[in-house]
Amino acid sequence: MGWLNEQVALVTGGTGGIGSAVVRRYVAEGAKVAVMARDATQLRQLEQELGDAVITVQGDVADYRDNQRAVAATLEAFGKLDTFVGNAAVFDYFTRLDRIAPEDFAGAFNKLFSINVQGYLLGAQAATAALRETSGSMIFTLSNSAFYAGGGGILYVTAKHALVGMIRQLAYELAPDIRVNGVAPGATNTPMKSLEGLNSRSVPLNQIPGFEAGAAQAVPLQRLAEPADHAGHYVLLASRENAGLTTANIIHSDGGWEIRSAGPSRPRSA
Ligand SMILES: NC(=O)c1ccc[n+]([C@@H]2O[C@H](COP(=O)([O-])OP(=O)(O)OC[C@H]3O[C@@H](n4cnc5c(N)ncnc54)[C@H](O)[C@@H]3O)[C@@H](O)[C@H]2O)c1
Repeated sequence: MGWLNEQVALVTGGTGGIGSAVVRRYVAEGAKVAVMARDATQLRQLEQELGDAVITVQGDVADYRDNQRAVAATLEAFGKLDTFVGNAAVFDYFTRLDRIAPEDFAGAFNKLFSINVQGYLLGAQAATAALRETSGSMIFTLSNSAFYAGGGGILYVTAKHALVGMIRQLAYELAPDIRVNGVAPGATNTPMKSLEGLNSRSVPLNQIPGFEAGAAQAVPLQRLAEPADHAGHYVLLASRENAGLTTANIIHSDGGWEIRSAGPSRPRSA
């Protein structure tokens, strides 16, 4: 018996590093899972790996109709929805405000926020009616960047901070029917991509030279996370038996950012 026997989940960005670890763990815990993501080849690979336990939907989280299609496909395949996991996001390759040309700013802001923030809200909106039916829950992937500076650039960190407010307000609006929580991973070994065109040096996150060592040095637990390190938190929050009174909560899974020591001080710029 798994913790999620006979449960049904929908995971956005479920072909990616953290998303696919959540999908695999949900299936291992007895759930059926619908996976929404952009890349058709990766979706097919996941179907081949996990068989009847999953269905896949190709779509863009920034588009409400795609979110609606994903919820409809979940209900058609599995008959209900217990947990919506909003997880799809893009990075900004640590790009600072003073490195974004003013004429490029609105485009970059709108693109990143349309995926990382609007995508979560549209998924929540599309899933609400089905989750009310089951007294289900929503779980969103945040980040250490939802609480602290320096783990991303200005757009990514601002967007992740906004999601703390989103979780609280949604938990408030949807109680007592639907629980709303988050998981905040720290640096994780995934190929998370940056917004195209934002930074010419951009490479996938885990291909940044020195990424693993730098991430390990930054936190007291001294290691870079693997995606599977976070998956148990998503199981706990989805479980009515084990987290039935938990809402508006965000579990940190980041090696201890909150208790890291201050870095060396830097001279003021002239
Ligand atoms: N990797 C890290 O260090 C790290 C740290 C903290 C938080 N996170 C968060 O974890 C989550 C997952 O990121 P990851 O590291 O697994 O990255 P990833 O690039 O491996 O996975 C991202 C997934 O989102 C999908 N996606 C991207 N844009 C989409 C769109 N518009 N519509 C539909 N799907 C889309 C991709 O297809 C992929 O499946 C994100 O919310 C990210 O901010 C990552």
